[in-house]
Amino acid sequence: MSLASRIIEEDSRYLMQSFSRWYPLVIERAKGSLVYDVDGKEYIDMNAGIGVMALGHGNEKIIRAVQEQMNKFFHYSLTDFYYDLAVRVARKLVSLVGFQGKVFYANSGTESVEASLKIARGHTGRQYIIGFTNSFHGRTFGSMSFTSSKSVQRSAFSPLLPSTLLVPYPDRHNPLCREDCANAVLEYIEDWVLKKIVDPNDVAGFLLEPIQGEGGIIVPPREFLQGLQRIARKNGILLILDEVQTGIGRTGKMFAFEHFGVEPDLICLAKALGGGLPLGAVVGRSEVMDLPRGSHANTFGGNALALAAAEVVLEEVPGLLGRVNSLGKMIVDILGSTKSRYVEEIRGMGLMIGVDLRRDGEPYEEGLEKVLRRSFERGVLAIGAGESVVRLLPPLVIEEELAQRGSSIIREEIDRL
Ligand SMILES: Cc1ncc(COP(=O)(O)O)c(C=O)c1O
Repeated sequence: MSLASRIIEEDSRYLMQSFSRWYPLVIERAKGSLVYDVDGKEYIDMNAGIGVMALGHGNEKIIRAVQEQMNKFFHYSLTDFYYDLAVRVARKLVSLVGFQGKVFYANSGTESVEASLKIARGHTGRQYIIGFTNSFHGRTFGSMSFTSSKSVQRSAFSPLLPSTLLVPYPDRHNPLCREDCANAVLEYIEDWVLKKIVDPNDVAGFLLEPIQGEGGIIVPPREFLQGLQRIARKNGILLILDEVQTGIGRTGKMFAFEHFGVEPDLICLAKALGGGLPLGAVVGRSEVMDLPRGSHANTFGGNALALAAAEVVLEEVPGLLGRVNSLGKMIVDILGSTKSRYVEEIRGMGLMIGVDLRRDGEPYEEGLEKVLRRSFERGVLAIGAGESVVRLLPPLVIEEELAQRGSSIIREEIDRL
């Protein structure tokens, strides 16, 4: 029995098996954009630990910053105390979002989303939050109430949060929304939802991903986000963007909202922010971030080690945006040279790329599983999204040669279907 097989066997004995693993990778170590398994095999990382390791694995600057911080202190809870590192990272985040804002630190994506829901309700004094179908916002009760990319993510856990509504995300595969999706959805929200279901004065916020990640790398039309912002502003509703996956340079801009010409009121962050340590954040307009004393906090949010890593991430990522765009184009070109009749669409922005595999117009799940498993066997790590989309989220620092080799292998495996 290989070491990997033994660990997988014990994993099934000792860990709850509620995950959705694609293939038997048992990781031992990683460096840059390469991952090594316990049996010594090397892999090209086109996942970055699901969009987390933007600066690659074992980044020397992050290691040094965290080590220096370890020598000062690990943890001392912002809930009751102060430290300069927390202020410095918040100041940097605010300067990067480009509006007068304040920050709340969390430990994960779902916790950032939970905080944004509380901030929206607390600030507006309104109950309703409107989310969008096919979204992914996390697995705790508040965020799960808006997570709807697969029914298994919610079906066993009702009742969910009350005073929530889901409306269609403008995806042309949604049968209610084929042509001119953006306007169809905007009209539905304005003329049906806000007139017939809920009074706009009862709605605290719209919560959505500017590009859906887990749902299958769905990029909405630019005019959709702009129209939604117009409806939000007209009715005093907050625009809450979940940039947990799209944020921190992933799409070729620091934040995906910059592509769409909108200005959100609240932005949820996590994943890449902590450079591999658990860190989330909500960045919001100063006037919105006004929850009263004692009404929201946590023990670990803004942990000093995670913030030390984040300070490096926020310093380094802006300088990588040019290569994120050029490498993204290169990968899309390589994938686009496929001869496969199963590739319906290649979409995304920057280094957030999806290849939608369909057979006779229907999601080709088996094809996705084959491509991911065979690519893994050939030393390339990618995962899926939506029902049948190959999802690529490599480190933003991936070397051109590795990105080329990794995406060529994936293309060859798509061609083999
Ligand atoms: C857009 C988005 N929001 C929220 C989350 C939840 O983040 P976490 O798994 O850190 O709770 C994810 C995770 O994939 C995500 O992609």
